[in-house]
Order: sequence, then C-alpha cells, then structure tokens
Amino acid sequence: MTIAVTGATGPFGRHAIEALLARGVPADQIIAVGRDQGKLGQLRELGVTVRSADYNDPASLRAAFAGADRLLFVSGSEVGRRIAQHQAVVDAAKDAGVGLVAYTSAPKADTSDMGLAEEHRVTEQALITSGLPYVFLRNSWYLENYTGQLPVVLEHGLIGAAGTGRISAATRADLAEAAATAVAGEGHESRVYELGGPAFTLAELAAEIARQSGRDVRYTDLSEDGYAKALVDAGVPAAMAAVLADSDRAAAQGALYVEGNDLEKLLGRPATPWREVIGQALAALGALPTQA
Ligand SMILES: NC(=O)c1ccc[n+]([C@@H]2O[C@H](COP(=O)([O-])OP(=O)(O)OC[C@H]3O[C@@H](n4cnc5c(N)ncnc54)[C@H](OP(=O)(O)O)[C@@H]3O)[C@@H](O)[C@H]2O)c1
Repeated sequence: MTIAVTGATGPFGRHAIEALLARGVPADQIIAVGRDQGKLGQLRELGVTVRSADYNDPASLRAAFAGADRLLFVSGSEVGRRIAQHQAVVDAAKDAGVGLVAYTSAPKADTSDMGLAEEHRVTEQALITSGLPYVFLRNSWYLENYTGQLPVVLEHGLIGAAGTGRISAATRADLAEAAATAVAGEGHESRVYELGGPAFTLAELAAEIARQSGRDVRYTDLSEDGYAKALVDAGVPAAMAAVLADSDRAAAQGALYVEGNDLEKLLGRPATPWREVIGQALAALGALPTQA
C-alpha cells in the first residue's frame, strides 16, 4: 500500500513520515510531496520517494499522486489561497484513484466561526462532494505555537485575546503520529476526529512558565483589536496579526477546545503532557533555574 504525504517538507509532514516509518510502512511505499528542493533532498535520505508538486499546479499534483493508494493531505500554509489549492489536491487525488484521503483540518470545522476554519470547512466539503473515501483530522493548536514564543514571553509576558477559553493544544509530533495511524490503519474511513491534548487557559500557561522558569511571567488578556495591534507593533504582518487575533477571539469561545479523547485513542497512549513540553522547551533555551 503506497501512501503519499503532501506538505512533507513542513515539520508536520516530516513528523508524519517518520511516524509512518516507525509503524513499519516500508520507505519505498511512501511518497513525500512538497516544493522545497532542499527539504525534499533531506527526505530522500530517509529512503522515501520524493516528488515535487505545487498546490497551484494541478498537473504536478496528478504526477505526484500517481500510484498512491492513500493520501495524507496536509493542509497548505498560504492562508486565503487554500480553497482553490485544496480543490486542486482533491481533484488530483480523484484522478489518481486514491482510496483514502486523510485531511488535516481544524476543530469543529463544520460549525466553527474562527476565520481560519473557513478554508478547512470548504475543503472538507470538497472531499465529501468528490466521493473519495476520507478521514478528517481536525487538529487543535500546535503546542509549538507557544513554545516557539518562549524567548519573548520570558522577557515580556504572555499576551493574547483568548480570555478564559481553554485550548487543547498538542505537539505537532503527536498530531502527526495520529495522522499516520489514521492514514495507514484500517477502520478510519468516514471518521471525523477532533484532535487535541489536555486543555489549558493562557493564564494557566503563563503560570506554568513562571513556575518552571522561576521568572515573573503573567498573562495579559487584550481585546481582539488590541492584540492585533500588539502583534503588528511586534513586527507581525497586519493580515497575519488579524488572523491570529481572530483565532484568539474564537478560542475565548471554545473554538480550540476539543472534547473527547480521539487523539489518545489514535495514539494508543496519552498525549505528551503540555507541562512536560514547556519544561523541555525552557531547558532547550537554558531558562530553567538549575541552568542559570
Ligand atoms: N494547528 C496549528 O496550530 C497549525 C499551525 C500552523 C499551521 N497549521 C496547518 O498545518 C499545516 C502543516 O503544519 P506545518 O507546521 O508543517 O506547516 P508549515 O511549516 O507552514 O509547512 C507548510 C507545508 O505546506 C506546503 N505548502 C504550502 N503551500 C504549498 C503549495 N502551494 N504547494 C505545495 N506545497 C505547499 C509547504 O511546502 P514547501 O515548504 O515545500 O513549500 C510545507 O510542506 C500547515 O500547512 C497549516 O495548514 C496548523
């Protein structure tokens, strides 16, 4: 059974390919699809087949999916362009006769009012309309969205607009391992998985960073507009700042909160504890008191 993985050149796709290999999928039955030639070269070192394709180029997608029995469709990163891009992926998968498409979506994509969910909702619908067998992997936030900001947070505190909304973040690696299980395993067709780890509020996150680092780190909750402005002032492009602020607004209402334990069930173990992930990230920065 040959499995193609789009977005293979991103960290999520890379984790998913490593998880497929760890599950025992032979390297010669994995097709890594992406654009970045350097990263495709690194993937080739794993023994997998690599194929270059662009979501804007339907012919490249058809060529990339040729011979694939299943597809792990990792959503693209060009927000605002993804409806046409993802339709091209769905059409190419259909042309290639792919037998199962596992698509990385967003929590409650069919009902969420989070701006980022819109392109996922349309993509899910495109897959349903296509008649292709599918499984939806509705991933909550990556924990790395927060650990990547730790140097700034340690210096200036944590800001956001998520209020007391609980966020079921999980590591990219856990979510990618779950995706590998869904695309390579049996019995997942037509399933919609809401995937996230144990939830926390941003105030709880700040308190944990403070506890482990021994520094005075607090969470400041801003209005949606105030948060967008703060992000722009910090150098985030305005369009991306608006998307992030809208995501926090929606998170305040529970948009990134995941009920149930789909992630744990797919992993066959608990998700990696977020406190542990924070500790590892602080250690990597040399920011634990014992390292001072
Ligand atoms: N849940 C969350 O917190 C969260 C956060 C960020 C993103 N996401 C979503 O999850 C996806 C995977 O996460 P990630 O961290 O690995 O993202 P990433 O680092 O932004 O990687 C994006 C991947 O999509 C590929 N891609 C983007 N546009 C493409 C195009 N036009 N044609 C072909 N490939 C294209 C990139 O290929 P090249 O590098 O080869 O160009 C790369 O492999 C993202 O794309 C996004 O949809 C989720």
